[in-house]
Amino acid sequence: MAEKKIDVVVGGWQVMATDDHLKAVGDTGKQGRLLVEGFAVQEPPVDVEAAAQRQAGVAALLAGFAHHLQDRTAHHMGYPFNLEFDFSVLDQFQSFSINNLGDPFIESNYGVHSRQFEVAVLDWFARLWNIQQHEYWGYITSGGTEGNLHSLLVGREIFRDGIIYASCDSHYSVFKAARMYRVECVKIGTLVSGEINCADFKSKLLMNAGRPAIVNVNIGTTVKGAIDDLDNIIRILEKCGFRDRFYIHCDGALAGLMMSFIKHAPKVTFDKPIGSVSISGHKFMGCPVPCGVVITRLEHVKVLSTDIEYISSRDATIMGSRNGHSPLFLWYTLNKKGYRGIQKEVKKCMRNAQHLTSRLREKGVSAFLNELSSTVVFERPRDESFVHKWQLACEGSIAHVVVMPNLSVEKLDGFVEELAVGRRMWHEDEGFSVPCVAKDIGEENCLCDVHDKNSGAA
Ligand SMILES: Cc1ncc(COP(=O)(O)O)c(C=O)c1O
Repeated sequence: MAEKKIDVVVGGWQVMATDDHLKAVGDTGKQGRLLVEGFAVQEPPVDVEAAAQRQAGVAALLAGFAHHLQDRTAHHMGYPFNLEFDFSVLDQFQSFSINNLGDPFIESNYGVHSRQFEVAVLDWFARLWNIQQHEYWGYITSGGTEGNLHSLLVGREIFRDGIIYASCDSHYSVFKAARMYRVECVKIGTLVSGEINCADFKSKLLMNAGRPAIVNVNIGTTVKGAIDDLDNIIRILEKCGFRDRFYIHCDGALAGLMMSFIKHAPKVTFDKPIGSVSISGHKFMGCPVPCGVVITRLEHVKVLSTDIEYISSRDATIMGSRNGHSPLFLWYTLNKKGYRGIQKEVKKCMRNAQHLTSRLREKGVSAFLNELSSTVVFERPRDESFVHKWQLACEGSIAHVVVMPNLSVEKLDGFVEELAVGRRMWHEDEGFSVPCVAKDIGEENCLCDVHDKNSGAA
């Protein structure tokens, strides 16, 4: 059936009414999806007066759009983006077309680049993950997806007949990489926590004992923030006869940075036989543009490097032209916060996530939090306008809030209150009944009539 197009006006001077407007629209389309209506691009009028009027209209539209973004930023809970940053000192670079095309470590003929900042950021991450300066290679990517695409390509180039193993809770970019590179991909089951099921991994590995293994290890899954057991995965690979026949990529989009600052967390380090680690820069660190970092071993990247005379550099990246502003943002953040500042923010987020989990449970909402995560998973709100208002990421019967440095306790409390009030209303008609989410977050975390130990039915 053709998707129904909804005429939703978002932006201009009407943005402040967006939520009301959406409520009025009622039907939010297929699976609650909203379709975007574009601001039409119009040819500038030739007449001087009309052109001035048009310009004033454009300015008003942009001002309205800025308001809209402010509102959306203030009501954001669902995605792992730190929306709190101040890069005003970097405004001076807006007027430059900064492009780090090619290899970050090789000077290209294009001089408007920011490699000095890129290399410094990479050095910082190399130190964080314990790899010597002369032993690593990496670059600032367009995001976690590109980090995965690059790393799995390196794995594929090293082991042309390899199989990609990834838990079914891995990010969709991992499966996209397998499709793009036409590599067989074996999906591994997960535990209720979202962590890879190592017993399933072992048995599937043994079914393909003759072919090398390219393993995607999640350092924080997308939906539940689960950390795969890297040490056990390595043990299994070695025990099953894969020594020297495996490549491990650690996908740490959000938590790859956070884990290094939690004392009791298993370490992500190149002291272990891993091939690469990637993170998203706009997630925990916060950045006005999507970006990321990937670090691999220098010896590995040689398999996909070629010299390109045209740029007088080496091509080893997925993209050609590369954003030269993002290294400035990341460099500035690292300088401003330092290890201590980031550690403080990590601790705050973990604490606030525990607070949110407790508050939700107090209100009778089933909620779950992995020990090493700030991603709070809970019963999916029934009202789509509430989901849209708070920009919650949902999957099946569950939703999550990713507690980032910009989410204060007050904001989280306000969110819980609004959810509790709304929830009573949404369930009013048919008599209140807590939905069962035991299969998603475990019986012990489910507060439905059947599983809640304190309810009469349990
Ligand atoms: C585990 C994981 N890997 C990769 C990605 C992709 O990152 P990006 O959106 O920066 O491309 C995400 C995004 O949420 C993720 O959660």
